[in-house]
Amino acid sequence: MSDSIEAQVGAALSRVVNPRTGTDLLSAGMVRDLVVSAEGRVTFTFLLGRADPATLVRETRAALKAIEGVAEVKIAVVDPAGPAQTTHQPPAGGAAGPQSTGMPAAPQPVEFPNLGRVIAISSGKGGVGKSTVAANLAVALARTGKRVGLMDADVYGPNIPRMFGVYERPPVVGGRIQPLEAYGVKLMSIGFLVDRDAPAIWRGPIIMKVINQFLRDVAWGELDYFLVDMPPGTGDAQLSLVQSAQVSGAVIVTTPQEMAVGDALRGARMFEKVNVPVYGIVENMSGFTDPATGQRIEFFSSGGGRRLADELGVPLLGQIPLQPGLADEADRGRPIIEAAPASPAAVALGDLAVAVAREAAGRSMSLPIITQ
Ligand SMILES: Nc1ncnc2c1ncn2[C@@H]1O[C@H](COP(=O)(O)OP(=O)(O)OP(=O)(O)O)[C@@H](O)[C@H]1O
Ligand SMILES: [Mg+2]
Repeated sequence: MSDSIEAQVGAALSRVVNPRTGTDLLSAGMVRDLVVSAEGRVTFTFLLGRADPATLVRETRAALKAIEGVAEVKIAVVDPAGPAQTTHQPPAGGAAGPQSTGMPAAPQPVEFPNLGRVIAISSGKGGVGKSTVAANLAVALARTGKRVGLMDADVYGPNIPRMFGVYERPPVVGGRIQPLEAYGVKLMSIGFLVDRDAPAIWRGPIIMKVINQFLRDVAWGELDYFLVDMPPGTGDAQLSLVQSAQVSGAVIVTTPQEMAVGDALRGARMFEKVNVPVYGIVENMSGFTDPATGQRIEFFSSGGGRRLADELGVPLLGQIPLQPGLADEADRGRPIIEAAPASPAAVALGDLAVAVAREAAGRSMSLPIITQ
């Protein structure tokens, strides 16, 4: 490579054009305090106005990361108009529930630096084990001493309360909803706020408000990981999440069959389209280990997870076998990793947590920080 890293960084920044103004970042003065260290650490302040597309930050980061020798990119996004423009403050005392959201939906993703890595657990298809993976992943990460939050973004059929055996109404202190906690994981779900038998009146616009409010008005504190259990599909909740928060990565859950894999592919592509990296694939209900013989039995045509991972060019992060009793324990509020830690599924889920943590750490260079 003939050009210095610094020169390449400068060139890359001058190639990123703000579509609103038609000028590049350097000419527009959007980049301040640029430092390129000898070790390839790039840090700078990004002056991103309210009207500027937030995707510019991701685009810029991707352009810089593509430069050979750039090891880390740290971007402090600031609003030139002042801090009040970049984060919404909840109105005083107005955060008791989704029905009280009178705020406009945030059109651009906002940084929530206190949440740590925001990781969406998604799929294209229902019933493949997203909530099971999200719940056990959360507990497994918490067991390693990490501070973990789990947001149930499934407003149609929230399962997290049942899976953690938690049904209380979260207290509101000083206008902020306090998350509930189980197995060391901070939890929030629409299921805590509405009656279990209430009709599913939650539709697109409401989802946006609920997700926004959960991100903004819940007193999550400082977290290392913020997992989001998504509803099935590629719809409003997925869109709302990526529009509301800077999602670090998505974990796509599939079952081994071809049909599920096709849906999962569509689910993964949706994240790629909005520049959210797919950390990898989890193949759930992936065969069954006979406890008597230790033999592995495949129920479905196998290998779907591997094929999907290859097609997307992402790692297969784990294969979770079918586990007798898992569903019953989950219904009793005990994630399998707690209920039967030595079971094959629990062991696989523990390994998955390690793999996800590794992916999230490997991508830390893509995590911007906000300083105001
Ligand atoms: N590896 C497994 N072994 C046995 N049962 C499992 C396994 N994974 C999930 N299940 C069970 O399958 C059912 C569906 O799982 P889960 O609710 O996690 O899926 P989901 O993708 O979140 O579903 P939805 O799309 O409805 O949100 C649950 O009853 C769960 O307990
Ligand atoms: Mg679910």
